Amino acid sequence: VAEASAPGKVILLGEHAVVYGEPAIAVALELRTRVRAEPAGEARPGITVNGEPLQEKGFPHVRQALRATGAQGPLALRIDSDLPSSAGLGSSAALSAATLGALLAAQGREARLPEVARMAFDIELATQEGRASPTDTTTSVAGGGVLVDSVEGPGLLWQFERDGKRWWLHRLEVPSLTLVVGLSGQRGRTGEQVARVAAHVLRAPQGMATVRELGELARSGVKALRDRDLATLGQLMDRAHEGLRHLGVSTPRLDELVRTARPHSYGAKLTGAGGGGSVIALTDQPDEVVRALRAKECPALVARLTTRGLEVRP
Ligand code: MEV
Repeated sequence: VAEASAPGKVILLGEHAVVYGEPAIAVALELRTRVRAEPAGEARPGITVNGEPLQEKGFPHVRQALRATGAQGPLALRIDSDLPSSAGLGSSAALSAATLGALLAAQGREARLPEVARMAFDIELATQEGRASPTDTTTSVAGGGVLVDSVEGPGLLWQFERDGKRWWLHRLEVPSLTLVVGLSGQRGRTGEQVARVAAHVLRAPQGMATVRELGELARSGVKALRDRDLATLGQLMDRAHEGLRHLGVSTPRLDELVRTARPHSYGAKLTGAGGGGSVIALTDQPDEVVRALRAKECPALVARLTTRGLEVRP
C-alpha cells in the first residue's frame, strides 16, 4: 500500500495573467487531498476509485496520472479530500500531485518533486485544453509560498517551457498573513474560465493590457510581501479584483462578497479561476470578516497556510 497527500492553494495575485507568462504568487493551504494506492486481488482486475470501477469519463486527473506513470491494474485507489472542488482552491492540482505520488510509490519508484511537478503540470495542461500555468501544481508539490515568474530569480525550484512560454518557479518566503477564504457556493470550472479569458484577450483590445497590468500588480506584490507591507498588498489585491472583473471571470456574487469583506480588510479579491469559487480577504480582523461573509450565507474560514507540500509514504 502506498499513500500520498498534497495541499490546495490560494493565489494572492496573478491568476489568469500567469497563463500568459506574467508572474503570480500562490501559497499552499493546510487543506489536503490524500490518495492511497493498493494492489487489488485478481478477482477485481481493473482499477477502482473509492470502490467503484474507474469509468471512461470519470476522474480525468486520475486517468492522466495512471497514463503518465504507466500504472496498471489490479489497483484500488482511495481518495479523500478536505478541498471542495471547483472552488478556486487547487483541488485538481492536489489530486494530480497526490495520485502521482501514490502511484509512483506503489511502483517502488521515488517521487522526486521536480518530476512530480512536471507530470502534474502536464496533467493540468491536458485537462485544461492546453491552457494552463504550473502555478497550482507546483504550489501543491512544493508547499509554502511560490512565485511563478517569466525570469529566473533567487530561490529557484524548477523551470518549465511549453509552446514558447517559459515559467520559472521559485520559493517565496511569505510572512505570516491572516487570510479569510469565503466560498461563493458557485462552481468555477478552471478550463471554462481560462477559455473565457483567452476569447476576451483575443477580442477586446484592452484584454492583453489588463493581463499585463495583473502581472505588474503581482510584481509589486512580491515587494510588498518582502517589506511586510500589508496595506500595500491589500490595495494590490483590490486592484487585481478589478482587473479580473475586466477579464470577465468575476460574478455579481463574487463582487458582493469582496465588497462585504473589504470594510474589515486590507484588501479582498476573487482567487483562482473565478466564475464562482472563492474570495480571499487579507485582514487583521478575521472574526469580523468571517461574520460579515456568513451573514451573506457565504461559508467562510480563516486559512491555515502550510509549508508541507507533497508527502509520500511507500
Ligand atoms: C487557477 O487556479 C489559476 C489560473 O491562472 C489557471 C492556471 O494558472 O492554470 C486561472
